[in-house]
Amino acid sequence: NLGENNSLMNKFTAEIRDVNIQKDSMRFRRNIERIGEILSYEMSKSLCFEKSEVSTPLGTKKMDLPTDKLVLCSILRAGLPLHQGLLNYFDGAENAFISAYRHHEGNEDEFEVIVNYFAAPSLQGKTLVLIDPMLATGRTLENVLKSLKDYGTPAQIHIVSVIGAEEGVEYVSGIFPENTQLWISAIDPELNARGYIVPGIGDAGDLAYG
Ligand code: PRP
Repeated sequence: NLGENNSLMNKFTAEIRDVNIQKDSMRFRRNIERIGEILSYEMSKSLCFEKSEVSTPLGTKKMDLPTDKLVLCSILRAGLPLHQGLLNYFDGAENAFISAYRHHEGNEDEFEVIVNYFAAPSLQGKTLVLIDPMLATGRTLENVLKSLKDYGTPAQIHIVSVIGAEEGVEYVSGIFPENTQLWISAIDPELNARGYIVPGIGDAGDLAYG
């Protein structure tokens, strides 16, 4: 939970929460993207590095450079601005997109998560980065993990999110493999009866795309 260390990220997170500021959807998207950039930087410290020689106009320099083969996998639609933030830094990554939405039938408080669009490269031996700004009940990530099974076994999994609920974070840590790390800017205490994070930010998909 990177929001625990005071940094500029808290300002961006405060702006996406604030009812008076979050209405500006361009700023909302850009703030999510900026948080994605900061989380990328933090996540990059946990990647694998190898010495590599770089030629400069005046000589050579040995530098430690990341070697992971990254696949950035976003969950539509709220994942898109966060995805762009990661792509700004991991510009050589492969990309995957998956759609997941909550389907309410009958009882408005109950829902199932439907996954019906999936485009991904092979994940075998690669570093998979799952990108979704909201981690509420964790059921979306659970379904995404199931849908990814046919694409090979990643060597590492990173989950990048912006706001999570304690309950969902705990749920996800119980179902993902041990080689999974979560990078998130804030974890809130509650989920309401509809599975929304409280205090949270509201509906990230609507705030970003109307
Ligand atoms: C939101 C959010 C996550 C999911 C999190 O998506 O973007 O994908 O809910 O909830 P969970 O942890 O309880 O599964 P939503 O279904 O609102 O779709 P949208 O991104 O298209 O708005």
